[in-house]
Amino acid sequence: MHPLRIESLVYRWPGGERSTLGIGALSLASGESLFLFGPSGCGKSTLLSAIAGVVDVPKGVIRVADQDLGALRGGARDRFRVDHIGMIFQVFNLVPWLSALENVLLPCTFSQRRRTRAGDDPAKTARRLLDELGLSDPSLASKQAHELSVGQQQRVAAARALIGKPDLILADEPTSALDEAAKMAFVDLLARECAEAGSALLFVSHDRSLEGHFNRSLDFRDLNQGTE
Ligand SMILES: Nc1ncnc2c1ncn2[C@@H]1O[C@H](COP(=O)(O)OP(=O)(O)OP(=O)(O)O)[C@@H](O)[C@H]1O
Ligand SMILES: [Mg+2]
Repeated sequence: MHPLRIESLVYRWPGGERSTLGIGALSLASGESLFLFGPSGCGKSTLLSAIAGVVDVPKGVIRVADQDLGALRGGARDRFRVDHIGMIFQVFNLVPWLSALENVLLPCTFSQRRRTRAGDDPAKTARRLLDELGLSDPSLASKQAHELSVGQQQRVAAARALIGKPDLILADEPTSALDEAAKMAFVDLLARECAEAGSALLFVSHDRSLEGHFNRSLDFRDLNQGTE
């Protein structure tokens, strides 16, 4: 099984003059972590949106867990996404009025697969993940998401992406609000948790100082050559 396999991907935003993405091939093995770096505007978030299936189906083939995303429509694609992909974004990660614990458990309420893979007691698994990500204070788990610091919210979002061992985790610059020490600790924990869960990790950023925490690193501009 390949968590991610991309072939001949071309994507152009509606109304755009040039294609934003032109990627010959990219694939990730189970448990592998890839750091993809490139400057602002080069198309990193666009690539993650295409993989997550949240933009129009591009030209070419994107397979997640061996499933061709282009063959799935609407609701089926949404179900597939929550079953197989965990996502961490730069901002607006959490549902503000839900507690930290409820946010972590969200994928398990939408996905039978994630619930089953979260162990006998998903709430216990959620608490363990929060604990391992450095949110061990029990009062934090019951706080509403908007009452947490940005750094705490990012760790809650990481726990939510990890719960139920999705095949692939997409992380879009989730460290930009953190100071240097917190950033390194967060990335280190995330990479370690992904390896333990066997989830492949695709992490995009402009910040090359993070590079050393990943199995492999790639310049987005080398990967993305076919813009026309
Ligand atoms: N919703 C959209 N509609 C049209 N064009 C878009 C949209 N989102 C992004 N783009 C364009 O696609 C290109 C790539 O943007 P993208 O957000 O993928 O870059 P990025 O590498 O993630 O940048 P950053 O590091 O600033 O987050 C840009 O030229 C941008 O203007
Ligand atoms: Mg971006």
